[in-house]
Amino acid sequence: MWRSLRLVSALGLCASAFAQSSTVDSYTSTESPIAKAGVLANIGPSGVKSSGAYPGVVIASPSTTDPDYLYTWVRDSSLVFKMLIDQYTSGQDTTLRAHIDNFIAAEANLQQVTNPSGTVSTGGLGEPKFNINETAFTGAWGRPQRDGPALRSISMITYANWLIANNNESYVTDSLWPIIKLDLDYVMNNWNETTFDLWEEVDSSSFFTSAVQHRALRQGSALAAEIGQSSVVSGYSTQADNILCFLQSYWNPSPGFMTANTGGGRSGRDANTVLTSIHVFDVEAGCDGVTFQPCSDIALSNLKVYVDSFREIYSINGGIRADQAVATGRYPEDVYQGGNPWYLASFAVAEQLYDALIVWSNEGSLTVTDVSFPFFQQFDTNITPGTYSSSTPIYSSLTTAIRNFADGFVAMAAKYTPSGGGLAEQYTRSDGTPTSAVDLTWSYASALTAFNARAGKTSASWGASCLSVSPTCSTSMAPTVPVVFNVNATTVVGQNIYLTGSVGALTDWSTTGAILMSSADYPIWSTAVTLPANTQIQYKYIIVDNGEVTWESDPNNEFTTSMSGITTINDVWR
Ligand code: NOJ
Ligand code: NOJ
Repeated sequence: MWRSLRLVSALGLCASAFAQSSTVDSYTSTESPIAKAGVLANIGPSGVKSSGAYPGVVIASPSTTDPDYLYTWVRDSSLVFKMLIDQYTSGQDTTLRAHIDNFIAAEANLQQVTNPSGTVSTGGLGEPKFNINETAFTGAWGRPQRDGPALRSISMITYANWLIANNNESYVTDSLWPIIKLDLDYVMNNWNETTFDLWEEVDSSSFFTSAVQHRALRQGSALAAEIGQSSVVSGYSTQADNILCFLQSYWNPSPGFMTANTGGGRSGRDANTVLTSIHVFDVEAGCDGVTFQPCSDIALSNLKVYVDSFREIYSINGGIRADQAVATGRYPEDVYQGGNPWYLASFAVAEQLYDALIVWSNEGSLTVTDVSFPFFQQFDTNITPGTYSSSTPIYSSLTTAIRNFADGFVAMAAKYTPSGGGLAEQYTRSDGTPTSAVDLTWSYASALTAFNARAGKTSASWGASCLSVSPTCSTSMAPTVPVVFNVNATTVVGQNIYLTGSVGALTDWSTTGAILMSSADYPIWSTAVTLPANTQIQYKYIIVDNGEVTWESDPNNEFTTSMSGITTINDVWR
């Protein structure tokens, strides 16, 4: 009886997974040409939806109001062209050469346009977006965004490597290298400055930005060595080592995710990190966690935490089982244009999983560690940490389940793709209606890269294998110092004292996120905080009583942190 019931339910599951897989098969085959045409429609000079865009200029979307996206962003353009360059250099589409050459010419022009972030030599390379006729956008914006030059150089280096392999080194040295070098020098000199994140909202350090900066300098240093530009090799590789070290500091071990930004006062769960894993994927790097490869235990743990953060917040996810795909967005706290699920986020989750499956298959095994255990447990409640060879039933059942899970994210995007196949930026959390910018170029590109990964296609390796960080490297970008805050404050039962202040580590003056102090030595309330060294800090204590906040009287307390060593501050409540 038990056996047959179990058999029936297993068959039922297989039947539905099979149905889903063929739905996704047919979606990928119909959507693929639509997405490709959608990308090309948004590239000047002849794209049918981008009239007015200069040659090689990628518009973010033809939408001109709410939101107005008829601009060119360095990030979007570079990610889109990375996809096109991969298609061209792999032979998947041999017709793209003129587009690629136009892109390079357009970006070389944009590098030289003086803009609100500066000139080409004073920070202008960090400018996030331009007008589509290659003039500066001078309105207020979240600037600089330092992922742009890194992503742009990654795309161009990918093309350069292919040209070298195809006997065109002189074009690389004479024409491409000077453009690439401007971006790489910018990354080398500025990676440890704060930046707006890829969502253009939080000014701090950002995991995606740091990770693509690392990749750019790593690849750039290898290219420079190859074409005899030896003077920059060690500068690029030294800073690549430093960024790789810094990258490790974003890890939040409990509950196991990469905190997207060092500032911003959010939970830190963010598609930023999933996008990182797919854009630093190197099929030769195995499941290496140091570079956050898609199948690394930390990237899988992170993926689960990210996905789960959307299960409860979107109505369209209602009733979906905890081990099945759901709609996901930029980050759970998002309110921009409704704060809905994003197509490119759904595709990114699927792509990370397809990338992981490719590597496991190449390696002939997969490993479950204590860190990735919660991820794998979704697919097999009895799983235990260990390495499972591809000849074992556990490997087969896990990889089948993970492929189905991945397909579920594509199926989610498919379900909310309108009949013409157009991909907007978002689909509503309430009923999945496409919303915000129509025909978002990046949405189309993200579909195409996910479809390629599903078909087992990978991009050229970028040198991520066998990298390591020195155990003594300093993981913090800027030096920090420990500071102990003590305040003598008389309170009544039900009242607690919190600390809040002017820097991220003091929650940027949040009252709801402020740091709870310990009353173990009452009436002294105490807490220890790690703060940026040699920095002027303002702070105050607040009393919170049942949600009601009482601030200390003005002015703010102020001090400058030391260069090193522990500091103890003893205050009396005012
Ligand atoms: C426009 C940006 O493009 C978007 O990412 C951001 O969420 C909003 N501004 C709000 O800052
Ligand atoms: C808003 C997104 O947050 C940002 O990442 C993107 O660059 C712009 N829209 C343009 O698509």
